[in-house]
Order: sequence, then structure tokens, then C-alpha cells
Amino acid sequence: MPISIEESRVPFRGACKSVSNAVAPMTGTVRVLSDLHLGHSGTMIEDVEQLAPLIEGADTVIFNGDTFEERCPAFYEKGHDMLGELDALCRSVGAEAVYLSGNHDPDSWEHSWVDLCQGDVFVSHGHAILKYISPWSRNAGKTAQTIDGLWQEFEDSEQTIEQRFELTRKSCHATTVYQPQLGRSLISKALTVAEEAWPPSRPLSVIRTWINSPEDARDFVAEYRPHAKFFIMGHTHFPGIWKSGGLNVINTGAFFLLLNARTVEIADGRMTVHAIKRNRSGEFVRGVQKGVFSNLPLTTSE
Ligand SMILES: [Fe+2]
Repeated sequence: MPISIEESRVPFRGACKSVSNAVAPMTGTVRVLSDLHLGHSGTMIEDVEQLAPLIEGADTVIFNGDTFEERCPAFYEKGHDMLGELDALCRSVGAEAVYLSGNHDPDSWEHSWVDLCQGDVFVSHGHAILKYISPWSRNAGKTAQTIDGLWQEFEDSEQTIEQRFELTRKSCHATTVYQPQLGRSLISKALTVAEEAWPPSRPLSVIRTWINSPEDARDFVAEYRPHAKFFIMGHTHFPGIWKSGGLNVINTGAFFLLLNARTVEIADGRMTVHAIKRNRSGEFVRGVQKGVFSNLPLTTSE
């Protein structure tokens, strides 16, 4: 599924065959956003210009997965167009865009994670912490067998982080993505929420994932980034900050109705987490501060 973003400074290799972490060093102010789901009928982002206040002033913006709907034919074209606009917006305000893969865009980006602050901060979409990627999905039962088979091969290997993310990428392809034709009206959205909540085992699975994800994140980081103190993720769309063992897990939520997005900023050894709200002009701006962490090493990727 080739993507071409004119004059993009973002490393891109089309349908990537492997994952790597050769991200150029980052300095200055780094911000993290996730789960924009550009092109999806349920995203709150109608025009990428709405994101300008969250991008302006940053030297680097990390889009931490599910940036656009690579896997949904019904949403792909619009998502791809919006992605080009997002890239242009970042360039116009002098911000370097770094895109990481998510389960909705597993093949478009070269990178699946970055290490910041001399390894204290690990940033990745978060789908890799879940063996079945989206265990709440309608077809989770059917895809489990395929993913079990992939894991069997993996467990016989050396299990490096690169191999783990390649396994995750393959597992994404074992899953299918739901394409609700969601209208913009509140009634249409309410109907879709109701449909999403049926059968009741689905919301229960979502809640179980939300409850378990800080521990799942801790276990993943203990395996692959044992020295990290922070894990910035998205994926479950449930925003929050949790302490699990010695790890701070920060979830930046999603740009969907009911579930708010958050933004993380790292600058001068200080990390802040803010809720995102819409102003009267419809732009997304920083809202209430949800967390602050000080004394981090310099903001550079390793
Ligand atoms: Fe997502």
C-alpha cells in the first residue's frame, strides 16, 4: 500500500518488512500525540488545522501510532489526504514529525518505538503489549488461533525487541479492522456506540484491558526496556497515568468521542501531561495539566 508524502522528511519505506529504531537525535521540545485516526468517521479531527496549537512551538512531534487509517479501505483515501496535510502543517511551523506504527497503520512507518531522555522514556503505540492486539474486537476469537501460531514461531527465537515488533506487525494483519459508517450527527454516533457495546462481552473485554494494561505495559518494558522509567503509549484509548512497579505508564488516549486525548511534552528535563480540549474555534488546545515529572535527562533520542 504505497504512500507518498511530498517532500516528507519522515523516513518511509512503504510496506516495511522489519522494524528499527534509527530515529535521528531529537533536541529541544518534544511532544507526543497518539490515535488521531485520520480518515476514520469517528475521529474528532475534521481538519488537521485544528491540531495547529498542539504542534506549534514543538521541535519534534511524535505521532505515536494509529495516525491514520491505513487498513480500512473505506477510510484510507481521506486518511491519506489528511496525513499529507498533517505533514505539511508540521513543516510549516518548523516541527519535525516522527511517525510510529500502530495497529491501524502497521506498515506505513519505519519505526515502532523511540527511546528518549537517555532511555528513561520509552515511547510506543502500545499494541505490542497485548498478544492479541485488540482482544475486545468482534473477531478476536477467530484470529487468536492465527496469532497463537505466530507466537509459537517467535518463542523459538531470540526474542529481541525488533523481533517482538515484527511479531506484532504480523499479528496486526491477523486481525481485521471494523469500519463503522459513522455519521457526524449525535444520533448516528450514539447508535454506533450502542452497536459497539454489543454483545456485553465486548465492553467487558475493553474494561478488562483497561484495568490490566498498566501491568501489561510494565511486563513488556521489564522484558525489553528494563531501565525505562516512563512508557508513553496509546492504543487502548483510555487516557491516564498509572504507576506500575517502578514504571510510570502514560496513556495519551484518542481523538474519539467520549474518550479524551492527552498530550505529553518533554523539554528541559521536564515532562508534562495535559488533557486536550477544543476551544471556541474548534481547535484542539492544551487543557488541564494531568501530570508533571522533573529531573529527566536531556531530551535526546538514543
Ligand atoms: Fe487507536
